[in-house]
Amino acid sequence: MSPTLSEQAARLFPPAAARHTDLAIVSAEGAYVTTDDGRVILDFASGVAVTNVGHGHPAVMARVRAQLDTLVHAGHNVGVYPTYIELAAELVELAGGDRKVFFANSGAEALEGAVKLALHVTGRAGLIAFKGGFHGRTLGTTALSASASAYRGGYLAALPAVNHLDYPSAFARQETEEAEVRRCLAQLDEYFDLVVPADRVAAIVVEPIQGEGGYLPAPAAFLRGLRERCDRHGIVLIFDEIQSGFGRAGDMFAYQDSGVVPDALVLAKGIANGFPLSALVANAELMQRWPAGAHGGTFGGNPVACAAALGVLEVLRDGALANARTVGARLRDGLADIARHLPYRTDVRGRGVMLGVELRHNDHTPAVEAVARVRAAALESGLLVLSCGVHRNVLRLMPPTTLTAAEADSALDILAKAMTVA
Ligand SMILES: Cc1ncc(COP(=O)(O)O)c(C=O)c1O
Repeated sequence: MSPTLSEQAARLFPPAAARHTDLAIVSAEGAYVTTDDGRVILDFASGVAVTNVGHGHPAVMARVRAQLDTLVHAGHNVGVYPTYIELAAELVELAGGDRKVFFANSGAEALEGAVKLALHVTGRAGLIAFKGGFHGRTLGTTALSASASAYRGGYLAALPAVNHLDYPSAFARQETEEAEVRRCLAQLDEYFDLVVPADRVAAIVVEPIQGEGGYLPAPAAFLRGLRERCDRHGIVLIFDEIQSGFGRAGDMFAYQDSGVVPDALVLAKGIANGFPLSALVANAELMQRWPAGAHGGTFGGNPVACAAALGVLEVLRDGALANARTVGARLRDGLADIARHLPYRTDVRGRGVMLGVELRHNDHTPAVEAVARVRAAALESGLLVLSCGVHRNVLRLMPPTTLTAAEADSALDILAKAMTVA
């Protein structure tokens, strides 16, 4: 018998190319993936928060097909082309105007661009990020990440200096949100006093909703506190919305819920529904001070990927964004109902279709195995869910913004049974 795709993968790829499941996915449509053995599975992973308007959405694919017949690559450093301009103009407007854009391919690449911008325009060296944050796998973004020491451990000598401070985490610390915000901001002030003066810090990098770290929304007061300190000290405030952006949290960008506006916004994942594209959207005055030669790249802003992103915007505007809020609320209510009856301490959180359910034992230790059991039981019943959190004790739900109420209900039915097993 010939080896399965999973068996071939084990031979062809290193352990570093780790996967959440053994599934071999051969096709996908809407909220479903189909495996090589013919299983049709409700997909609450979305390729890790990428297929934000559902697999192969017809409006996206129509634009992609038209673009394929017209122009596949020009090179943004050779010449400009219509989708590159049209998408950048849309992003500037969505981010509130007075912004400029730099396109790249992956989240890490765009975030690294944001950090390079901050270092260049401030002439400073200090960088601050937060524990539980995940920002990517390049050397620069590995340095910024602090959601698992395994991500950084093998590379310490090559990582630029970044300091990681606490991110508000009320449930884990059994504190109120207000107390957590006060504690974390006081820690930042102390850091400026004792470790690195604020006027040596180039950027603060933060996820408005931590992804890998546990689908943990930052309280608005925390983001306001960061904004206020960045204004006072001339620090560039970078919001990593690679996972929370482009409709996933029920707003175009998750930060819009807080009213706090960053100097630089980084987008990737859901922006082009599966085509590799990322964007740095930053304050026009800062961007204007970033000279020719200071940044670049070959594939960024690929015409087909930009066409896909324009299609995603069309779908979000045509109702998917509103749907993310209503179907997300339905899921969240259903999850809260299920969680109430579990023999665990639970925290159901998140916004839109970016929802997490944290499970802890009665002594408040993370219920890691329970989450693994729920995932396995759900998959057995036809629902793909991943986990997150620094202890991997958070169920991580990221269906498409186009999920129907019936699909949400069938996921809740499966989860209700799977969680009883746990
Ligand atoms: C918040 C956040 N930042 C950055 C990244 C890195 O993005 P990419 O894997 O596209 O480089 C990710 C990927 O999971 C992410 O979730």
